[in-house]
This record gives sequence, structure tokens and C-alpha cells, in this order.
Amino acid sequence: MSEQDGFSVKSLRREYQVSFVDDFAGALASELAPGDFLLVDRNLGQLYASRLEPLLSAQPHLLITANEEQKEFSALGKIIEQLIAQGVRKNHRLVAIGGGVTQDITGFISSVLYRGVEWLFAPSTLLAQADSCIGSKTSVNFGPYKNQLGSFYPPAHIFIDPGLLNTLSPLDMRSGMGEMIHYFLVSGRKDFEFIRDTYPDCLQDRQALKAAIARSLAIKREMIQRDEFDQGPRQVFNYGHSFGHAIETLTDYAVPHGVAVSFGMDLANFLSTRLGYIDQDLRQEIRSLLAMNWGDASFSQVGVEGLIAALGKDKKNEGSQIKVILTKGLGRMFKTTLEVDARCRGWLEEYFADAAAQGN
Ligand SMILES: NC(=O)c1ccc[n+]([C@@H]2O[C@H](COP(=O)([O-])OP(=O)(O)OC[C@H]3O[C@@H](n4cnc5c(N)ncnc54)[C@H](O)[C@@H]3O)[C@@H](O)[C@H]2O)c1
Ligand SMILES: [Zn+2]
Repeated sequence: MSEQDGFSVKSLRREYQVSFVDDFAGALASELAPGDFLLVDRNLGQLYASRLEPLLSAQPHLLITANEEQKEFSALGKIIEQLIAQGVRKNHRLVAIGGGVTQDITGFISSVLYRGVEWLFAPSTLLAQADSCIGSKTSVNFGPYKNQLGSFYPPAHIFIDPGLLNTLSPLDMRSGMGEMIHYFLVSGRKDFEFIRDTYPDCLQDRQALKAAIARSLAIKREMIQRDEFDQGPRQVFNYGHSFGHAIETLTDYAVPHGVAVSFGMDLANFLSTRLGYIDQDLRQEIRSLLAMNWGDASFSQVGVEGLIAALGKDKKNEGSQIKVILTKGLGRMFKTTLEVDARCRGWLEEYFADAAAQGN
């Protein structure tokens, strides 16, 4: 079996399965048992009404509005109430059909309902298919603290149907591409060149995209099998993320996660040049790919002070020092502490002025 048919992921909780399928609804229909409960992204419920009909008429289900408010801890009570009222028992499974929001809600509830029920997942966004579906993390929001409650609780089986991406918005496609690019850069030069050369094809050709998704997951799998609980080596995947999270939040999610991470990686690379870890040529080489992905998205309006304040709130940081992932080259990302002093502020001012001049 090739990686593009499927593979399994070892986890300390269980070994779980990832399958590439042509028809997510058919694959789920042959897997489900009476009483298994579906949590379906509301937009998919409309876009794929006829394909979902046999599943929805056979199984109890709920439509989920995929936004950050619905991922709020206090909003989960209503969902849990309905699951219990509609007869979900410990031996039933929850089934998420949707993107990262539907995943996080379903995964989190699965991990606590009756002290844990099994769950299945059909990811429907590129971000969820190429990244979040594996790795065990479930995260929900608690007031202003985004993704601060959670657990490590993987689904038993993941069914990836790249055909679902035909209806995804161009901006959400770019968000997923940004997240994928980050895995390819952390992996090394061969993978960087692969994604750079196939980037345009990925947006048009589902076979090219499927190959990139499979490779992205293979890179991530190797790392999460070594450090599932994010205690050491897996932290290099935070590359671009401290800055990215800040940009995402400060633009009120107008710049979606993976696009914000694209800017975040470029900023990390810029700081890496200023600190003498990489040269300008390498930064520009990577930037050409990242710029293709961020297009005309803009973040510089948030300002340097806004960025610094938001970084201070990042869960990994204390005082005027921030923990960031910088790079000594492709495949050579490392965790370090950045002192936010006058010198660093000067670099950030320079970076923002340059971005504003370029329309970002
Ligand atoms: N648990 C993890 O490991 C992990 C990792 C990364 C991100 N996340 C979380 O994932 C969330 C973001 O998820 P996301 O980017 O996958 O998207 P999402 O779930 O927020 O969905 C984005 C939009 O796309 C729509 N949509 C979904 N699938 C579609 C399709 N096939 N066609 C048309 N529209 C579709 C949704 O209805 C929604 O409007 C954030 O809350 C983030 O914190 C979790
Ligand atoms: Zn990410």
C-alpha cells in the first residue's frame, strides 16, 4: 500500500488509521454502526446535501457552525446536552465531518464524554487534511484564551477525500497551503524544492495536491511518533507560529491561520538573517514561495507595538523575552529566546516598514 492509499500513526493512546478515499460519505456509511453520532459542518450540510442524505437519515446528527465562538468552552455544554439527550452511549462513536473547528469540538468532547468515547474524522479543509487531522491535539477556546483547553486524543480512523476541497474558498486553500509549506521547510531542501515546484499545480490538480497532502502528513507523522506530547523535538513545528498566531488574532482572523503562518515564517527568517543564522539569498529564495502564498493579504496595519503586545500573551512567553523558532537553514529550525530590546524593536520596525511598502 502506498502512502497515498493510507497509513497508520502510532500514538501512546492507540495506533490509528489514515485512509485516502474517493467518497467520504460512502466510506463512512460502510464504517458506521447504529447510534454513532455525526457532527457535521453546517456549510458542508448544504454543499453536500445529497451525498450526505443517506448518512444523515440513518444516523443521529448535529450541524455545527464552524467559527471560533462555537469552539468556546461555554458553548460546548449545549452540544453535549444534545448528544446525551439523543442517546449517545459510551460504546457509540462521534464522527466529525468538517474542518479544524469541527475537529476540535468533536475531539475535545470525545475525550471527556463518559471519560472518553471513540471518534472518527472526515476532514474537509486543506488545513485539516494536510495537518491537523493527525497529531492527537484537541483544543478549544476559553474566553480570550484561544486553544488553551484541550487534550491529546486522536480519532480511531481518518478518511481523507481531497474531492471535498473543490468547494473550499481560495483563501482557505491558501491557508492550508501555508500550513503545508511550513512542514516542507522544516523537513529540508528536497521537500522545499518539491513544494516550490508543485505549488501552482496543487491549486489546480487534485492528484498533485493529494501527493503534497500525503507528503505533508508523512513529515508530521515522523515527528509526532517521536514526540506526541510536544515536549521537545515537535516544537520545531512552531516555526512561524508565534508570529502567525499574533497576526491571526490582531487581524481578527481576516488573515487566516496558514496565511498568517506564511508571514510568520518570513519574519522568523528575517530575524534569522539579522542574527547571522542564514544569509539573504536563502531568505529571499524561501520568501518567493511564501509571497506566492500570501498574495495581497496584509498585516502591517497591526503595528509593531500591537505585535509585541500580542506575543506577550502567547502561551510560550514570559516578560520581555519571547520563545521563538528561528532557522539556520532549510531543515535546521531551532528553538531560542529572543530578547525584545531596542535592537529587536528596530528590526521589527524595519520589517513592518518593508511589508507596508510592498502592500502587505
Ligand atoms: N487540533 C489541531 O491540531 C489544530 C491544528 C491547527 C488548527 N486547528 C484549529 O482549526 C481551526 C481552523 O480550521 P480550518 O482552517 O480547517 O477551518 P474551519 O473549520 O474553521 O472552516 C473554515 C470555513 O470553511 C468552511 N468549510 C469547511 N470545509 C469546506 C469545504 N469542503 N467546502 C467549502 N467550505 C468548507 C467552514 O464551514 C468554514 O466556514 C482553528 O480553530 C484552529 O485553532 C486545530
Ligand atoms: Zn498551524
